Amino acid sequence: MSKKIFKTLDLFAGVGGIRLGFERVGGFKTVFANDFDKSCKLTYDLNFKEPKLNTEDIWKLDITKLPKFDVLLGGFPCQPFSIAGYRKGFRDEKGRGNLFFRIAEILELHKPTAFLLENVKNLKSHDKGRTFKIIMETLKKLGYHAKAEVLNSMTHGNIPQNRERIFIVGFLDKEKADLFEFPEPIPLTRSFREFVAEEADKKYYYNDKPLYEKIKNDINSEQTVYQWRRKYVRANKKGVCPTLTANMGTGGHNVPIIKNSIGIRKLTPKECFLLQGFPEDFKLPDIADSKLYHQAGNSVTVPVIERIAINMRNVLLNKVKPKKNTLVNYIKN
Ligand SMILES: C[S@@+](CC[C@H](N)C(=O)[O-])C[C@H]1O[C@@H](n2cnc3c(N)ncnc32)[C@H](O)[C@@H]1O
Repeated sequence: MSKKIFKTLDLFAGVGGIRLGFERVGGFKTVFANDFDKSCKLTYDLNFKEPKLNTEDIWKLDITKLPKFDVLLGGFPCQPFSIAGYRKGFRDEKGRGNLFFRIAEILELHKPTAFLLENVKNLKSHDKGRTFKIIMETLKKLGYHAKAEVLNSMTHGNIPQNRERIFIVGFLDKEKADLFEFPEPIPLTRSFREFVAEEADKKYYYNDKPLYEKIKNDINSEQTVYQWRRKYVRANKKGVCPTLTANMGTGGHNVPIIKNSIGIRKLTPKECFLLQGFPEDFKLPDIADSKLYHQAGNSVTVPVIERIAINMRNVLLNKVKPKKNTLVNYIKN
């Protein structure tokens, strides 16, 4: 394998799902990580050596002092923003703006070779497509050639979770951008059963809780993942886990539910991390379950990130050669 190491900036890092994907494929080294959520820091720092998570608000961060880096990584929060606000420039009246524009400022100042941004699928349709258009236009104005695609964890990561997310990959070099391709779909060979333990702490079971009477008749298969939707039980028809979300654990009812030989229970935080493709040895700190569910739901599916990282690395290392018919041929290491 090439010795070239690309330095990465891990922004809106959460628990480091994107960092993990990039570091696992090799050829990338994180030089700075930021997220202002202090509970994420507990998880992040437990799992990564240097650099530890910097928890300053990204608007307060002195971005002129960032270390040198080649690739910017960021699963930035999706905040709606108005065209009117955008026309006023990168910041609104309060000196703050949409977090995407903070990324844009960092790109403008440091001009890294490439970036990967991640967001919810409906970023594309938000405000009749205007938000997405502005994002892509801004990236272009900054000199980047970017491509975007929606990938699903169950079709692109061999992880049994129905999770669609948009990924935007850009390069300064047009040729590299042209050669970059998002990973192709792969067969889903793993069942969600592989990700759940036979036993779990008593607190996760509904058997002696008030909700039990309402759900027990509808939750009847051990091969299905269910969700309690305020008034009814929803069975996931595809036999996979529904999208893990950041609001899981708040109120408790959005955490997916399974049945096993012992009873009916919600997934544990650990199982949620596994269903995001985190490895078994990823450590969870001793904090409230609600925080851990939130972190897992806010994160990314690591194997999907790994597959994108491999394609980015191949392009950065000039390991992709254009063919006459413009199809891309990936050279194996
Ligand atoms: C969708 S999550 C990204 C999670 C991450 N990709 C992971 O694997 O865990 C967005 C993150 O942005 C962080 N964030 C939001 N506003 C921020 C700000 N002003 N400064 C720093 N971090 C911020 C949140 O705390 C949250 O963890």
